[in-house]
Amino acid sequence: MKLELTINGRVHSVEIDPGEMLLDVLRRLGYKSVRRSCNSASCGNCTVLMDGKPILSCTTFAARAMGHNIETVESLSEDGKLHDIQESLLETGGAQCGFCIPGFVLTTKALLEENPEPTEKEIREALNGNLCRCTGYESQIKAVLNITRKRGGHVNE
Ligand code: FES
Ligand code: FES
Repeated sequence: MKLELTINGRVHSVEIDPGEMLLDVLRRLGYKSVRRSCNSASCGNCTVLMDGKPILSCTTFAARAMGHNIETVESLSEDGKLHDIQESLLETGGAQCGFCIPGFVLTTKALLEENPEPTEKEIREALNGNLCRCTGYESQIKAVLNITRKRGGHVNE
């Protein structure tokens, strides 16, 4: 079947199998920031945003994305300049091997758009589904708190 997908503001016309998952289609189209890890809704590495909300692309049929805006990490940096979430992760050491980072960045983006001044507890809850095998999470939580600070928000630790 033929599908029109809007990804990072660009419309793609793509031929898919009806049962194909969004993760496979995104990677086929070259959006390699979208990572496959567990492939079973357990790790959050395949997270993308659909109309601004995090979804797991490994368990979302590609056909479901029609008529929605899909956002991947490829949309974030501009003219070679990193997004402030990416910068903050680098500053705190919250990105090590980097495999989990695209999902983490997008989940954080959605959180801060909905709640610009999250408490540490709210950050932990929001990121609960994004697993990382390297960092132990503390540096990532600190990165999110630092973004709030840098954006001029009040930090409730
Ligand atoms: S690859 Fe989708 S949740 Fe793990
Ligand atoms: S930085 Fe390596 S898995 Fe998270």
